[in-house]
Amino acid sequence: MIKFTVITLFQEALEPYLKASMMWKATEKGLAEFDFVNLRDFGLGPHKSVDDTPYGGGDGMLLRCEPVFAAIESAKAQDPDAKVILPTPAGEIWNQKLARKFASTSDKNSHYIILCPHYEGYDERILSIVDYKISLGKYVLTGGELPALIIIDSIVRLIPGVLGGETSAEIESFSDGDNIEYPQYTKPYDFRGMKVPEILLSGNHGEIDKWREEHSGKSNS
Ligand code: ADE
Repeated sequence: MIKFTVITLFQEALEPYLKASMMWKATEKGLAEFDFVNLRDFGLGPHKSVDDTPYGGGDGMLLRCEPVFAAIESAKAQDPDAKVILPTPAGEIWNQKLARKFASTSDKNSHYIILCPHYEGYDERILSIVDYKISLGKYVLTGGELPALIIIDSIVRLIPGVLGGETSAEIESFSDGDNIEYPQYTKPYDFRGMKVPEILLSGNHGEIDKWREEHSGKSNS
């Protein structure tokens, strides 16, 4: 079982995705659990404020330490061993190897808290309670919600029992370093003149494996 507690101001942006398709199945099977902490509940003053202007000047607002620390401490109160993930463009670039590393902890009842920053950034002191800084790539999003969903999805689908075919996650793209999966085809054989390569209909598994090997690509990152 793997548990994710997502600290966010926009639970409604995450919930539909986690309640659909494979993420929902993983929950139903008891393999994954998702819950949410509303950062606003830990906001300051009558307006439940969670951000403020930067010292030294500059545009935008930064997430303040107090609400973030209080939210993480409340999530950790139930599970002191939970690890904190911060999606940030300044983090380590997410990849399949990292997804596998996180997924492999699911047999030990692991718990990850994902803090979704919003607005223009966060007070640097927040990093003192973060275990993993993760970047989804060299571009900037408006918040941590999309990265949180991508991180969760790519981990949860690797947990044994979540995908239908037990080997699906093993033979696919990136399962072995930078490899991209070979091209695949289903019915019909002839779609608008585009035909399935003959070799795949031959029944010769040695030749099919060879063809697949030859047609596997390398990622161009
Ligand atoms: N927050 C904003 N942009 C991001 C990115 N590229 N990766 C992770 N978190 C982010």
